[in-house]
Amino acid sequence: MAPEFTSRDPSQPQFWSDRFERKFTPWDRGGVPEAFRTFVAGAARPCATLIPGCGAGHEVALLAAAGWDVTAIDFSPAAVAAARQALGPLADRVQLADFFSFAPSTPPDLIYEQAFLCALPRDRWPAIVERWAHLLTPGGLLAGYFYFDNAEKGPPFGADPGQLRRMLAPHFAQVEDHAVTDSIPIFAGKERWQVWRRLPLADSAR
Ligand SMILES: C[S@@+](CC[C@H](N)C(=O)[O-])C[C@H]1O[C@@H](n2cnc3c(N)ncnc32)[C@H](O)[C@@H]1O
Repeated sequence: MAPEFTSRDPSQPQFWSDRFERKFTPWDRGGVPEAFRTFVAGAARPCATLIPGCGAGHEVALLAAAGWDVTAIDFSPAAVAAARQALGPLADRVQLADFFSFAPSTPPDLIYEQAFLCALPRDRWPAIVERWAHLLTPGGLLAGYFYFDNAEKGPPFGADPGQLRRMLAPHFAQVEDHAVTDSIPIFAGKERWQVWRRLPLADSAR
């Protein structure tokens, strides 16, 4: 049974810190999911990668081992502490930062999405999409796991496929979309692996 929490606003760091501190993290896959492993193994070159809302940051070790320049951020001090502890010598790849104001020292080639969009209420999504588009240079990739569901309450907050497409279309073109076979229960049957390419600025609505 889920513990009782007093923090109810997932757009505030305290909401997530309370859950990390009580080790109630049902969204945490406990490792790196298959589609992302395949994506990294098949990439033509290493990508400077940003992981917003990294939580425990399992992907950091995989990317660092592959020689990729990875920066993982989270605005919850408890999440950052957990990730840094788990990552040991790679702890400095994790920064305490709010995605909406974070200014990376290197522009990312890739933004990895996993349970970040669905962690925030739907009214925050346009701002997330704007930020993805702002941070990625043309040709850059947004890749990861997108959660589809119409339940009003969350997190996780699910998207409607058409809604997601309409939100991303001004800035991104889809290059991959397939089912996920190794979902954990909270996402099972409701998530897809997708890759979106940042459009050239002239093609973008910005
Ligand atoms: C559902 S968890 C997912 C964590 C991780 N990506 C995973 O899949 O295990 C959402 C995470 O996003 C973080 N988060 C939410 N809003 C954020 C923001 N504005 N800036 C940075 N991190 C944020 C939370 O602190 C939390 O760790």
